[in-house]
Amino acid sequence: MALEVLVIVVSYLLGSVSFSMLFARLFKGIDIRQYGSGNAGATNTLRVLGKGPAVLVLVLDVLKGVAAVWLGTLVGGWDSWPAALCGIAAIIGHNWPLYFHFRGGKGIATTIGVMATLCLWPALLAGVIAILSIVFTRYVSLGSLIFVALTPVALLLTGFAAPVLWASLIIAVFAFWRHRSNIVKIVEGRENKLGSKAKGGE
Ligand code: G3P
Repeated sequence: MALEVLVIVVSYLLGSVSFSMLFARLFKGIDIRQYGSGNAGATNTLRVLGKGPAVLVLVLDVLKGVAAVWLGTLVGGWDSWPAALCGIAAIIGHNWPLYFHFRGGKGIATTIGVMATLCLWPALLAGVIAILSIVFTRYVSLGSLIFVALTPVALLLTGFAAPVLWASLIIAVFAFWRHRSNIVKIVEGRENKLGSKAKGGE
């Protein structure tokens, strides 16, 4: 039990390493939460720092999720509660990071890493539809929400282990909660589109 708790705590601490915050400080000496959409994530890094740093942030934030699930898998095995809880803990760390006054991102890149490691094919299915929605609407937030909403559905279609399905549902709740301002903006037609200038923070 102690080992399980330890890897969950380590996953939270790993998730708390906010690469968009670190790169914004390193490259521009700024707090990214004061710029663009105000979000500490890859999409806002694209707006504020450009393509190179954004790709780097995206990859590293995805890898945080992958590493956390691996850590849980080492302790509990594939499809286990430790694997699922470590993934959730990494996303909590990303969204509410210990090192940045608990003001982090919306957790989607880390969610991609977590879900792709917990359940590759359902995540891939949801991911393809999400990417298509971003291509057609240019709303990254909408694509993010479609991804988290469809992953549990895809799991139900393809078969699932209970911890993985629960993780996908909890993660979807986190994502919708963190995207509340995006949802309002989408409804009001004020949401930032990929490739256009940010319309302001949350
Ligand atoms: O993953 C975050 C994305 O869904 C929305 O980011 O900066 O447009 O609020 P942003």
